[in-house]
Amino acid sequence: MLTLLLLSLVSIIFIYQSYKYVIGRPAGFPPGPPRLPFFGSYLFLLLINYKYLHKAALSLSKWYKSDIIGLYVGKYPVAVVHDGQTVREVLNNQVYDGRPGLFLSKMRDADDCVRGIFFQEGVLWREQRRFILRYLRDFGFGRRFDQLENVIAEEITDMLDLIRNGPRYEHEHQLVKPGGYRIQLPLFFNPFSANSHFSIVYNERVPRAEMAKLIKLIQFGLQFQRNADDYGRLLSIMPWIRHIWPEASGYNKMNEANLYIYQYFSEFIDRHIDSYDESCERDFLDLYITEMKKDLPKESGFNREQFIMALIDFSFPAFTAVGSQLSLIVQYLMLYPEVTKRIQREIDEVVGCGRLPDLEDRQKMPYTEATIRETMRIETLVPSDVPHKALEDTELMGYRIPKDTIVVPSLYAMHMDKRIWSDPENFRPERFLDDEGKLCLKKDMSLPFGAGKRLCAGETFARNMLFLITTAMLQNFDYVLAPGDSLPDLSKNFNGLIITPPDFWVQLKER
Ligand code: HEM
Repeated sequence: MLTLLLLSLVSIIFIYQSYKYVIGRPAGFPPGPPRLPFFGSYLFLLLINYKYLHKAALSLSKWYKSDIIGLYVGKYPVAVVHDGQTVREVLNNQVYDGRPGLFLSKMRDADDCVRGIFFQEGVLWREQRRFILRYLRDFGFGRRFDQLENVIAEEITDMLDLIRNGPRYEHEHQLVKPGGYRIQLPLFFNPFSANSHFSIVYNERVPRAEMAKLIKLIQFGLQFQRNADDYGRLLSIMPWIRHIWPEASGYNKMNEANLYIYQYFSEFIDRHIDSYDESCERDFLDLYITEMKKDLPKESGFNREQFIMALIDFSFPAFTAVGSQLSLIVQYLMLYPEVTKRIQREIDEVVGCGRLPDLEDRQKMPYTEATIRETMRIETLVPSDVPHKALEDTELMGYRIPKDTIVVPSLYAMHMDKRIWSDPENFRPERFLDDEGKLCLKKDMSLPFGAGKRLCAGETFARNMLFLITTAMLQNFDYVLAPGDSLPDLSKNFNGLIITPPDFWVQLKER
């Protein structure tokens, strides 16, 4: 009898605790779906829209009639913010400048100790970001710089030559079909963007004949981007599933990519460290090595491991994100031929055909600039931003946000907010122009690069590359459909860390 009583009591306590776990939320936490054992609320996101988690989160926001929702991704509390004003508030408030220690970030680092820039926080992040940006600027990063602009023009000339004359080396068959004029996206633009960036960082470029390793690096970069998701997949919740379902969990693909990228940059840095000569400063990397050699306190961030991770973080978007964003622009140009024609008219008037478009032209080509901005709004490359984290207990929209809560400022929701855009679902570059057809930046409330102290470190470089490559392509070619081709289907785009189109071949025609 006593055993039965005890068993009943234990069962009641267990059921009550489970109920409390599912329904219970910290006092004042934003409304949201229940929390299941192990999964938290992540399973609900998958059930609502497994392909696009940012859309799933927005649907929840609508169901709960709240611009902020509270979730659990495994044990981590998460607040997702969906209205423009609060998204801005999160980005501009340093209380939210932390980064969660998701498995995704830890797995990139050989010693399981988070380094780099993207997933770093506190003094180390601030010091590294400031140092790198300060000195990369000397080599043209984030500003106008003739030497860099000449390099980019040379890269674009190589790119146009590759399109016109087809592959010259075995590895170029992955970029262009024999005979030319048929290129593979999103791979195609990345080597030229990567090379422009490498010329800033170490004053050298990979010649076309030797690009095989670089192309592989880009492919692995895209593999990493595509195999993660906004919350780091189930691996964030149960890292051990990688031992049971290494393939299905995405672990194998991310790990394979990660190892290649790490190896690529570590070999490169080691070569640089080995050939370092303090009497001769070759490039930005030497400046970093000089800092490493100073007698700094042990906890200082300037060491080989941090060097590798920081360089990866500063290079990774240049060889993955820029080409992906350009490919999204191509998709829209193909879907909206009248927009393409108007850009081409602008190029013909301002640049003509005797030279390549340059950054001086950018101010004189408002419609082109507006189209690039509109594509970045309607097809947000990083829909859930890179997750932020509350560094202390705080409040948002009247709700309690405990310290260490993951805070997601949904750039996608902001870019689709009717209260800001009135017709967000329409692709309308004119929305950024005034009555005289001039670019009106006041009308551009979009934040594709984030904002605040965590603002994308490569915004200026990326915007310049998007303009220069888009215009060089449209100056010279039309995007057309070859027999058997069909127009891009946006619903097939992948959601990973960033949005990428599936690999597709595009036909070009000389204008
Ligand atoms: C179209 C291209 C790009 C887009 C849309 C983009 C967008 C973003 C976004 C949304 C973030 C997160 C901001 C936040 O945490 O709130 C970010 C961070 C970052 N981006 Fe970009 N990015 C692009 C290209 C680049 C390039 C080319 C570089 C460098 C060469 C770069 C370097 C970085 C770095 C280092 C961070 C981390 C900043 C930090 O955590 O402090 N990005 N980017």
